[in-house]
Amino acid sequence: MSGMSGMPVLPEGAPLRELPRLANMATEGGRFEAALTAGVAKARFADGLDTPILAYNGESPGPIIQVTEGDRVRIAFRNAIPNQASTIHWHGMPVPADQDGNPMDAVASGDSRTYEFTLPEGSAASYWYHPHPHGLTAEQVYRGLAGAFLVKPKVDPIPAAYGDTVLFLTDLRLAADGSLPEQSMADLMNGRVGDQVLVNGQKKPVLTVQSGTRRRFRLFNATNARFLRLTFGDAPMTIIGSDGGLLAAPVQGATEILLSPAERAEVVVAFEKAGSFALKTLPYDRGWMGPGRPDDGDLTLMSVEAQGAALTEMPPLPEALRQIPELAESTVRRRFVFGESMRGPGGMTMAFMINGKTFDMTRVDVQMRAGQIELWEVQNPTDMDHPFHIHGTQFQIVEVEGNDRISKPAYRAWKDTINVGRGETVRIAVRQELPGLRMYHCHILEHEDQGMMGIVDVVA
Ligand code: C2O
Ligand code: CU
Ligand code: CU
Repeated sequence: MSGMSGMPVLPEGAPLRELPRLANMATEGGRFEAALTAGVAKARFADGLDTPILAYNGESPGPIIQVTEGDRVRIAFRNAIPNQASTIHWHGMPVPADQDGNPMDAVASGDSRTYEFTLPEGSAASYWYHPHPHGLTAEQVYRGLAGAFLVKPKVDPIPAAYGDTVLFLTDLRLAADGSLPEQSMADLMNGRVGDQVLVNGQKKPVLTVQSGTRRRFRLFNATNARFLRLTFGDAPMTIIGSDGGLLAAPVQGATEILLSPAERAEVVVAFEKAGSFALKTLPYDRGWMGPGRPDDGDLTLMSVEAQGAALTEMPPLPEALRQIPELAESTVRRRFVFGESMRGPGGMTMAFMINGKTFDMTRVDVQMRAGQIELWEVQNPTDMDHPFHIHGTQFQIVEVEGNDRISKPAYRAWKDTINVGRGETVRIAVRQELPGLRMYHCHILEHEDQGMMGIVDVVA
C-alpha cells in the first residue's frame, strides 16, 4: 500500500508482539547452545510490498537470546550474507576479546565460526548483538541485523508481577517499491536516520494492560544514528537500569530519558488509572550537517491502553537493587578527541577521526593494563553529538564538562556507551578485566565505518 506521496504506508496499531526467543539446544544445565545464521530474508513492513532485508535465523529484529549469569554460552554462527564478511559482536558483554566479533576476526561470506564464553556473576543486563565487519557495520545493521541479549541474575530483585518487556527500537527507511534505499550522502555525514521508528519491528503497536499495572520495560536504541529522547508522558517512570544492568537504587520521578544510539535503559512505568498512554519522542538537537534534518520530536512510538478496575496488589520496588562499587583512584589519564574533516575530490566525503586518525585495523592506538582503572577523557569539539562506546567492559561516568560547567552524574550506573554532546568533554572511569584487543568508537555506525574508531590493547 502506498500513501499520497508514493511512500509506503506501514500498518499501525497491532498488539505489541513479543520478539521470538532463540531456543536453547543444550542438554545440560548452566549452558546455552544455539546457532545463528545471518542471511537474506524478506520482510512485509507495508501491505503488499516485500522488503529484502538481512536477518538472523530469518528474524529481524533477531531472536532474543536469554541466559542466566554463570552460563556457558556457545553460539555457532554462519555467515550466509552474499559477498560480505560479517561477525557477531556482543555489545557491552564481558566476553573474551577473541570471541567478541571484532572487525579483525571477520567471518567470510559462506563461512562459519563458533563464539564461546562464560558470563560471570554480576553481569546481568540488557545487552545486544550486531555485526561488526570493517566498513559494513552500518549497512548490515540498517538492513536488519541486530537483536537483544538478556542476561538474567539468579535472583531478580524486580518484582515478577511487573513483567519484563523488551522494547527494541530500530528505524527504517523504505523506498516506494518497498526496498531499503542505499546510503545517501546525508546518511554518511550524519548517520542514517530512517523515516519510521519501529518497536519490536512494528509501527505504533499497542500494549493493553490492566489499570494499576506497573510494567518493567527494557528499552534498546538499536538504530544506526537516531537519538531517542523518550517519555511516557504523565505516567510515572522510575529508572532502574542502564547499559550494564540494574542501578544501585531506583531513581523515581523521571519524566524522560535520552538514549543515544546503542544505549539501553530499564524503567518501571506505572499506569495508575484507566486511559491511554503513549511512549513518545521529544525533540533533541544532536547537531545536523546539511539539509534533511529528520523530524525527531513528538513521534508516538507505542501506545499503552490501561483498562479495567485498578489493580491494588502491585508489590513495591525494593529500595536497594544491587551494589555498584565506585571505580576510583585512576592512575592513568588519557584523552580521546573526536574530529571530522572534509576529504576527497572537492571535499565531498568526510573523514571521522579520533585523535586525528581514522581507524586502522593493523594499528594499536592505546595500551592499558588489565585490571587497572583509567580515567578516559572524551572530548567533542565537533558540531555533532557522538556516542562513545568501548567493547568488553562497563565503565562509570565521572563528570561531564560543557557550557563552562562541570556536572556529576545524578546516580551511579554501569555504562558501555555515553553520548558526548557537541562542545562537551565526558570523563569516564574504565577498567578492562580481560586481555586482548578491544575497539572503542562512535556508535553512529556510519561514523564508525568511516574511521571514528580505535583499538586498545589490554595487556595482562
Ligand atoms: Cu555496538 Cu563496536 O559496537
Ligand atoms: Cu560494542
Ligand atoms: Cu559520531
